[in-house]
Amino acid sequence: MPKIKLAEKTIELIKEICASFDNKEGELINVLHQVQSKLGYLPAEVQEVIARELNMSVAKVYGVVTFYSFFTMKPQGEFPISICMGTACYVRGAEQVLSEFKRQLKIEVGQTTADGKFSLSSLRCVGACGLAPVVMVGEKVFGRVTSPQVLKIIEEYKEVNVEE
Ligand code: FES
Repeated sequence: MPKIKLAEKTIELIKEICASFDNKEGELINVLHQVQSKLGYLPAEVQEVIARELNMSVAKVYGVVTFYSFFTMKPQGEFPISICMGTACYVRGAEQVLSEFKRQLKIEVGQTTADGKFSLSSLRCVGACGLAPVVMVGEKVFGRVTSPQVLKIIEEYKEVNVEE
């Protein structure tokens, strides 16, 4: 992956987030969550700053980022779509729902559509098993999603984003 150069204000933002958690190594997951919610993803260069601020090794930060499926090192689409593949969702058809998203968007898990609008990821249980199968678009939760609803969800967001 090509190296990216972080803007000074991005580095400052990361430092502020680390400081708000007292630069404690034990707060790594909270720091990663906050940074990802601000920047959208956690590329290697961002992980390096976090490691430095929390006084820990980059390898350890990398280990945590790659262990948890909700952290990503790739830029997300404008509307990141996550499909829960936890047990409750899985048995209620999450796999078919995921296949339908792949088919409609013509991308695989971990990829972003060419227009940068949608990205696809899968998650472990998001704690809303009563609504299984669960799909998240950004922060919004869709429950009891069926394959025929997939296109409607995509269309809804296509319409939301009319910038031009
Ligand atoms: S398994 Fe999907 S929300 Fe719990």
